Amino acid sequence: MSEPMIRLENVSKVFPGSEVPAVADLSFDVPEGEIVVLVGPSGCGKTTTLKMINRIIEPTSGSIRVAGMDAVGTEPHILRRQIGYVIQQTGLFPHRTIGQNIATVPKLLGWDKVRIEDRVAELIELVGLEVEMAERYPAELSGGQQQRVGVARALAADPPVLLMDEPFGAVDPIVRARLQDELLRLQERVKKTIVFVTHDIDEAIQLGDRVAILNIGGVLEQFGPPEQILRDPVNDFVAEFLGTDRGLKRLSLIPIREVALDTGPVVAPGDPISAAHHVAERYGVDWVAVGSRNDLYGWLPLDQLVEMQAIPTDGLIPFKTSLSVDGSLKEALDAVVSSHTRVAAVFDGDRYLGMLTAERISEEIVQ
Ligand SMILES: Nc1ncnc2c1ncn2[C@@H]1O[C@H](COP(=O)(O)OP(=O)(O)O)[C@@H](O)[C@H]1O
Ligand SMILES: [Mg+2]
Repeated sequence: MSEPMIRLENVSKVFPGSEVPAVADLSFDVPEGEIVVLVGPSGCGKTTTLKMINRIIEPTSGSIRVAGMDAVGTEPHILRRQIGYVIQQTGLFPHRTIGQNIATVPKLLGWDKVRIEDRVAELIELVGLEVEMAERYPAELSGGQQQRVGVARALAADPPVLLMDEPFGAVDPIVRARLQDELLRLQERVKKTIVFVTHDIDEAIQLGDRVAILNIGGVLEQFGPPEQILRDPVNDFVAEFLGTDRGLKRLSLIPIREVALDTGPVVAPGDPISAAHHVAERYGVDWVAVGSRNDLYGWLPLDQLVEMQAIPTDGLIPFKTSLSVDGSLKEALDAVVSSHTRVAAVFDGDRYLGMLTAERISEEIVQ
């Protein structure tokens, strides 16, 4: 097996004058191309750990390897060529344009003007900004845009490793959610090895291939894929940190796409009314959905069928919440509890795929 991109072994940090360690005997690996999220309460040593990886802070003991190099034995500027660093308040230089900010490292490395310009344009596009923004100053951008510039700057010289310290901490929840999605999409293209720090457990669960849960004193309580930690927290600290909605958080990790859907109580227009009664009875509901093949037109309560000869095409009640197959079971459960029919109809674009019920959803996490 090849060496992981980053390996910490028994790393400790005791700051001078401090009685207690900021980081205690910390060991974990970050495999190439993965996102490891360090999460834990304020002061648990997350930032200290990141800064030891790029040697802004020297460990008191232990070893750190990055991209095949012993971090402690390598010149910091050589080491940092392998590492892009994104910090919370973006750390953008206020008196330099966006373009100049992004060009910081390539300029240090002595790239020529044309190569730098091309790279800046490429990165601005990569992080979803407009090329015209290169001429603006940081204060002329929104918080979310500034964060994107911070990411672009860290990627400028194409380092294999990215360290991100609460990069989305300063923006509002809606922008943060968008930046998280964008980071995952960006990661599909750039395949960096990322150590991401946050105090937000939801962010950790969403972004991490693996999550490291840290306690005060820099003690690693649990390390593993988020679904494993949610399923099986090793102790009370972890369970409490995950929160009382642990089951719901697990649902947020299961894509609807991976779950077997029910056809649901569906009848076709023109079917006899008896067919509606049969299918409704089978599902234990007092309504039927009307559709054919991959189309779903709406639904009707059984008591509206009494006067009719056959299943109608008109007068159907539309499904209020149509659920995309790209969503998670958490979204599915939300759709179920807010629907009249107590089921969620799942679509791939316009194509009806099937239905989910609360029972079906809960089965997925009971296993
Ligand atoms: N330069 C420093 N000198 C002394 N103590 C520090 C220094 N930096 C951090 N600490 C202490 O180390 C502990 C961990 O800090 P930090 O790594 O910043 O935590 P986090 O990023 O998880 O909030 C805290 O108790 C903090 O006060
Ligand atoms: Mg910190």
